[in-house]
Amino acid sequence: MLSTLGFILGSGWGKIISDVNDRKEASFEKIFNKKATVPGHSGKIIEGKIAGRPVIFSSGRFHTYEGYSTHEVTEIVRYLHSRGVKKIVITSAAGGLNENYKVGDLVILKDVISLFCSSPLTGPKFLDLSRPFSEDMVKKAQKIAKDQKINYQNGTYVYVRGPHYETFPDKKALKILGADVVGMSTVPEVIMANYLKMEVLGLSMVTNLAFVKHDHHEVLTNAKKQEEKLYKFFEFFIKSI
Ligand code: HPA
Repeated sequence: MLSTLGFILGSGWGKIISDVNDRKEASFEKIFNKKATVPGHSGKIIEGKIAGRPVIFSSGRFHTYEGYSTHEVTEIVRYLHSRGVKKIVITSAAGGLNENYKVGDLVILKDVISLFCSSPLTGPKFLDLSRPFSEDMVKKAQKIAKDQKINYQNGTYVYVRGPHYETFPDKKALKILGADVVGMSTVPEVIMANYLKMEVLGLSMVTNLAFVKHDHHEVLTNAKKQEEKLYKFFEFFIKSI
């Protein structure tokens, strides 16, 4: 029997949910007793099957900039784990720092910079994060992007708390540190999923170029424009994994 796949869907990643059969859904409020407060994030857990494979999607997530701790935002990861998820796909919208990246590029994460993220773990949990992402899932994601002619990059994601966007000097500094994309999520979840020994794939969609002035509306509009491509990616990915 194939294990349940878990997904955390950021802005622009939600179209795949329309493929879920035998569907059940519940609000974040009902399951976690807290609401998603960000425009563009629905805040639901949707479960069922896609092509016969059991799946659970978190449509939206909690963010530290909403006032939650990194431990609180990772409640979704612990929930998915408690539901038997062993492979998790963590997605987001992000700003491109690497000058070769374009708006609309899919970024298959190869690593993260966690320096600016307080750990969601407490106590002597000296977690090894030398390989935060599953090599097997990364390879499969790369193959699908290649076969489907989806423009993609392999990059490093840096977390910032937000909610303000970075200043230009912030972005310059993050780039010097080795980051290719910047966003306000993902890293606490990646740490928690690794702690729970889940296999993790991290995906970002470049919704803006960090060195160009942008706003939240533009991020959401650009995320929406990429929906079809990300849908196609997931259709193939779910069958391959
Ligand atoms: N910075 C931080 N978070 C983001 C960005 C950005 O430029 N774009 C989308 N999420």
